Amino acid sequence: DLGGHDTYMHKEISEQADAVDRALRGRIDDRFSTVHLGGLNLDAREARTIRRVKILGCGTSYHAGQIGAQMIEELARIPSDAEPASEFRYRDPVVDPDTLYVAVSQSGETYDVLAAVQELKRKGARVLGLVNVVGSAIARETDGGIYVHAGPEVCVVSTKCFTNMVVSFALLALHLGRIRDLSVADGKRIIDGLRKLPGQIDEILKGEDEIKELSARYADAKSMMFIGRVRGYPVAREASLKLKEVSYIHAEAYPASELKHGPLALIEPAMPTVAIVPDDDLLEKNRAALEEIKARSGRILAVAHQAQEKADDTIIVPKNEPELDPILMGIPLQLLAYHTALALGRDIDKPRNLAKSVTVE
Ligand code: F6R
Repeated sequence: DLGGHDTYMHKEISEQADAVDRALRGRIDDRFSTVHLGGLNLDAREARTIRRVKILGCGTSYHAGQIGAQMIEELARIPSDAEPASEFRYRDPVVDPDTLYVAVSQSGETYDVLAAVQELKRKGARVLGLVNVVGSAIARETDGGIYVHAGPEVCVVSTKCFTNMVVSFALLALHLGRIRDLSVADGKRIIDGLRKLPGQIDEILKGEDEIKELSARYADAKSMMFIGRVRGYPVAREASLKLKEVSYIHAEAYPASELKHGPLALIEPAMPTVAIVPDDDLLEKNRAALEEIKARSGRILAVAHQAQEKADDTIIVPKNEPELDPILMGIPLQLLAYHTALALGRDIDKPRNLAKSVTVE
């Protein structure tokens, strides 16, 4: 049931405020400025012994994991990283008893993720799931976890589930942080930020006409560059994946700082750059990257909290807490991918060569 939308992708992008609201519902504990995650199955004493967090997923879920790792590192101060599940399983990894492993998957059936979970379990590791489909294989095989509550996602390309995964990682980071050394005040700051998300998502979605108009102007590009820094880098990677999947336009994502180490050679008027430019402590650094691109006559579309002088176009997104900004900055770029694909007449809900869940190696 498309509920008046022309594609599931559009429907699912439009549902994100409700989906985020669902992920938060019943989980916030204002008394202790923390969250309750019923199915986690990890008590406070165990949570304090974790020395590393390793997040495993594929595609969009891996990108959500990259943002999640940064959130856990920032809020809980536990060294964390994300890795594609398939890479992890084939490199004969050292499985460490003090590491918390988190498998992230929309379908809960992705073979590479499931196989990584099974290998970890066989070696005695503690593995949590961050999964959308209730009762799926990965949800069943893990020791506990968080359901992301995005609701059914039909479009092959993931949008609302990505957003809810990142929100769920924020909840996990807050939970682990408050068991460890995150202050009550910081816990409250993050909770206040989380509560603002649904309203801010609706605000972004109200700007759809403007993004549609921008998409028409960028749809003639053969190739696009996406850049971001630290919190913005996984946002750039996910936005670049979304664009290639639905529009078939070639796209590259790089950390802004890496441009000068090679990719700058690609910059010319026919290769536009989408830049993630949050108002955080790296704003000046990001502005410097925009200047480098402008000096090579590159066209720039910025996603930012305020107008960027060097950019040809800027999509302004509402500001939240710095740790939560990545949740919002990707949303206009889902719409950019959607409207670009629409302008090019693509089969949006079923891009060529792709399947919704990849249950083979
Ligand atoms: C991208 C996309 C894929 C999936 C990936 C993992 O839009 O949908 O990259 O994210 O195949 O799937 P799940 O999350 O079901 O494990």
